[in-house]
Amino acid sequence: MRHVVDVDFRARYGPWALVAGASAGLGAEFAAQLAAKGLNLVLIARRKETLDELASTLMHDYAIEVRTLQLDLGNDDIDTVITAAISDLEIGLLVYNAATVITGPYFEITLQDHLQEIAVNCRGPLTLAYILGQRMLKRGRGGMVFMSSLSSFQGSALIANYAATKAYSRVLGEGLWEELRTQGIDVVTCSPSSISTPGYLASTSSRSRRVSSAMMTPREVAAETLAALGKQPVVIPGWGNRLANVLMQRFFPRKMAIGLMGRVMRGMYQER
Ligand SMILES: NC(=O)c1ccc[n+]([C@@H]2O[C@H](COP(=O)([O-])OP(=O)(O)OC[C@H]3O[C@@H](n4cnc5c(N)ncnc54)[C@H](OP(=O)(O)O)[C@@H]3O)[C@@H](O)[C@H]2O)c1
Repeated sequence: MRHVVDVDFRARYGPWALVAGASAGLGAEFAAQLAAKGLNLVLIARRKETLDELASTLMHDYAIEVRTLQLDLGNDDIDTVITAAISDLEIGLLVYNAATVITGPYFEITLQDHLQEIAVNCRGPLTLAYILGQRMLKRGRGGMVFMSSLSSFQGSALIANYAATKAYSRVLGEGLWEELRTQGIDVVTCSPSSISTPGYLASTSSRSRRVSSAMMTPREVAAETLAALGKQPVVIPGWGNRLANVLMQRFFPRKMAIGLMGRVMRGMYQER
């Protein structure tokens, strides 16, 4: 396959990138777009076979090196496991894409599952930013991409804990953007609306998907996010989503914004 390596991007964020949550949907798309820019990849997820298939395709199509690591990012020991797996690599870019997405009434979800959601969505990006960021600081260059969500901007019924975890990753990313930007490390947090990933399509009602004109493809979201790296702290892909967010945050009373999100979530997750 013919492709043009992005020499500037590779010099700034290469030679290796690590994509956490890379076996499907948006994570696999981030991996493909980074491969096309000429970066070698470490791909992490729980499904080893799917990861290995993606690795073979990318190595073949883009003549890059790919290393896969089967790992549950909710595990307590991810810092030691990942540190050992990448000790010989110069990783210039972190993409933390993985998320646990548990939907439903708050008390119908076990406490253990809520805590697992926090482990994958909050402790995971914190840990990876810590262990990879220290090495980037020493080199004086690098980048970090965190996946948040439009739901991070206000509380949401039926995804109360998920939305709160996404607020965590956005606020972590914003803080690191300000703290690290003078030290050569670019940070961007992506807060998308609906993306047509296999996980999203399987979890939502067909009626809600029909009325969701805002749904974007993984390709569009990954491209807008990577283009925003080094330019701004937060990116909301899609002009319609940016407009909706401005309306919700600046013009709707808080109570109305939270109520509207609740109605949208009931349509998505209760009327299947
Ligand atoms: N899709 C949307 O509409 C939407 C909207 C707003 C925000 N987002 C955010 O965008 C990101 C991608 O979301 P998505 O649901 O569409 O997913 P995706 O990128 O299509 O797939 C999620 C990836 O994360 C991996 N993963 C999940 N849990 C993991 C764990 N415990 N340990 C290791 N890997 C794990 C999955 O692989 P394995 O199953 O093989 O582990 C998969 O590769 C998430 O951060 C999500 O919060 C998505």
